[in-house]
Amino acid sequence: MKRALITGTAGFIGFHLARALLDQGWQVQGFDGFTDYYDVRLKERRHQMLLQSPGFAETRARLEDAEAVMACARGFGPDVIIHLAAQAGVRYSLEDPRAYVDANVTGTFNVMEAARELGVEHLMMASTSSVYGANTEMPYAETHKADHPLTIYAATKKATEAMAHAYAHLHRLPTTMFRFFTVYGPWGRPDMALFKFTRGILEGTPIDIYNHGHMHRDFTYIDDLVAGLVALTGIVPDQVEGREGPGIEGDTLSPAAPYRIVNIGNSEPVRLLDFVEAIEEATGRKAVRNLMEIQPGDVPKTWADAGLLEALTGARPRTDFRTGVGRFVAWYRDYYGV
Ligand SMILES: NC(=O)c1ccc[n+]([C@@H]2O[C@H](COP(=O)([O-])OP(=O)(O)OC[C@H]3O[C@@H](n4cnc5c(N)ncnc54)[C@H](O)[C@@H]3O)[C@@H](O)[C@H]2O)c1
Repeated sequence: MKRALITGTAGFIGFHLARALLDQGWQVQGFDGFTDYYDVRLKERRHQMLLQSPGFAETRARLEDAEAVMACARGFGPDVIIHLAAQAGVRYSLEDPRAYVDANVTGTFNVMEAARELGVEHLMMASTSSVYGANTEMPYAETHKADHPLTIYAATKKATEAMAHAYAHLHRLPTTMFRFFTVYGPWGRPDMALFKFTRGILEGTPIDIYNHGHMHRDFTYIDDLVAGLVALTGIVPDQVEGREGPGIEGDTLSPAAPYRIVNIGNSEPVRLLDFVEAIEEATGRKAVRNLMEIQPGDVPKTWADAGLLEALTGARPRTDFRTGVGRFVAWYRDYYGV
């Protein structure tokens, strides 16, 4: 039976991933600090659900606490570490940049140290499409340079990619970094557009639409993302020595380390106004639109090249955004009883 230490299990993506691995018979150790960046009750509810599974155990601690991270990892003895806990959110990184450096840089380093000491089979860590920053070449491919981050959030994630490469090289620590593209779905994050728009539309309050709606996002449905993550647990980057064959076109496998970067995105950018219309359809109500300027650090468009993910796993995200939005709205109404 495989054992995964997952950080961020009280969070949106970690919760769904933990559920999927538990369903497949994995033992899962969750690690989460229950930060108050958004409604902690949602995090409590997610963990309550996970704790119903006998295969799940929790540690409540901060990533910045190196001893707590190490003790949790030592006590559990994972085969795989999947590091998802982070200070997330592009906009909040303008308000409190230090929270990002602490959680994402120091915190990620503590997870890497635990992975190194335990010599895990595979270290998997979340990065973000935000690292493509000011790039204009679309779709965003992992082989493109990503040297121009526009926010401290993106910069801290880019830093973790570099740190992880060094540890993969120095300690032969097989590492996969994921660049996620705007993930959405049931149990989603209250600071993200879909949640805020749905709440505003159902309450009849105005919703802020940035860049006058001239934004595109490559919205990725949570179940598709989780399927990609589960498949990639078993696709461990090779040792450098003895690599043979032509390899996969567009692969990011490092020449110096058992390390690769994989985009996980839908590869189908959606216009923000079409997204709002889908929420209107699903709720049966009209939005009060408050059209606003683009916000500092925002990029007008994201678009994933998902070719590498598909080449590695045989699949890529395909859920249509109207279907996904419908499922989110159904969950939201049920959860909040509205
Ligand atoms: N949701 C998206 O669209 C998206 C897109 C790109 C990248 N990501 C990345 O995916 C990962 C998961 O994101 P999510 O959407 O599930 O976010 P989330 O905020 O719902 O989950 C993150 C979890 O980490 C925990 N956490 C935060 N800081 C911590 C700390 N210092 N110590 C211990 N625990 C801490 C939080 O309590 C939370 O439960 C993050 O690394 C995020 O940067 C998400």
